[in-house]
Amino acid sequence: MKKIAIFGAGRVGESTAQFLAREELAEEIVLVDIFDGVPQGCALDIQESAPMFNFDTIVRGDTDPGIIEGAGIVIITAGKPRKEGMSRSDLLQANMDVVGGLLQHIIKWAPDAILIMVTNPVDVLTYYASKITQWPKNRILGLSGVLDSGRMASFIAEESGFSSKDIDAMVLGGHGDAMVPVPQYTCVHGIPITELLDSETIDRINDRTRKGGAEIIHLKKTSSAYGAPAAAITNMVDAIVHDRRRILPCVAMLDNQYGQQHLCMGVPAILDRTGIAGVVELSLTDSQKQEFEKSAQMIRDDLKSVDLIE
Ligand code: 2OP
Repeated sequence: MKKIAIFGAGRVGESTAQFLAREELAEEIVLVDIFDGVPQGCALDIQESAPMFNFDTIVRGDTDPGIIEGAGIVIITAGKPRKEGMSRSDLLQANMDVVGGLLQHIIKWAPDAILIMVTNPVDVLTYYASKITQWPKNRILGLSGVLDSGRMASFIAEESGFSSKDIDAMVLGGHGDAMVPVPQYTCVHGIPITELLDSETIDRINDRTRKGGAEIIHLKKTSSAYGAPAAAITNMVDAIVHDRRRILPCVAMLDNQYGQQHLCMGVPAILDRTGIAGVVELSLTDSQKQEFEKSAQMIRDDLKSVDLIE
């Protein structure tokens, strides 16, 4: 891929640019931010790591959104991050205003791109991006379940002692406190954790997963997470750039899948060079279906609060 663009040269955007450059997932990575000098400095710092990390990716930064021209993938990380005690929904109006401005630049300069929304509340803002761009639903997705599943897998490794390399977790639903970890599709080398861990341990892991982002904010005080989010974004971009047809839990526009429509939330998505090639419907327990519906209703409530409900 010739160019990947990232709006937001904060910690998530900068870390994502570093990981994408190091994996050489595009010939050029461009970083855009409103604070002059910041995207340029981030880009230069990453570029200077090229000889040591052995990558040929060109990394550029600017305040001019025209730098994204022709990007094949555009990643939106710009906006306010959560502070301790805030929910992701608390960021909605402020970040909707930020994203609304960026979408106009993206429509103008990268009209054929695949858009990955990271800014929170990501489920609502992914839907907002779909409404504003009117792009096909395969080209708009959001970061949620890859990050949440990665956290869940790391908690399983910590609790069980098994290698993270053998653990695949599955977390569906909104990227918030009502997310839906799905233990029967969470495996250690193909063995469901329901056969390896007791229900009390699984419940503890599920609860810690739901609060994964807040745990980081509590510990770091002055920053939310960025290492794991950037790694998750890199996994999604890699699946698209290399046309891998991976099944990864992402925020996707639902068209009756899981009984939902006119709504974006985290589901198993098939990622290839087109973006989302499809959505996989898993059979869920009755309580998981109820959790999923509760998560969907919380997203609908947020959509309604900003007059986005259909
Ligand atoms: C997180 O959970 C930033 O929403 C992201 O850390």
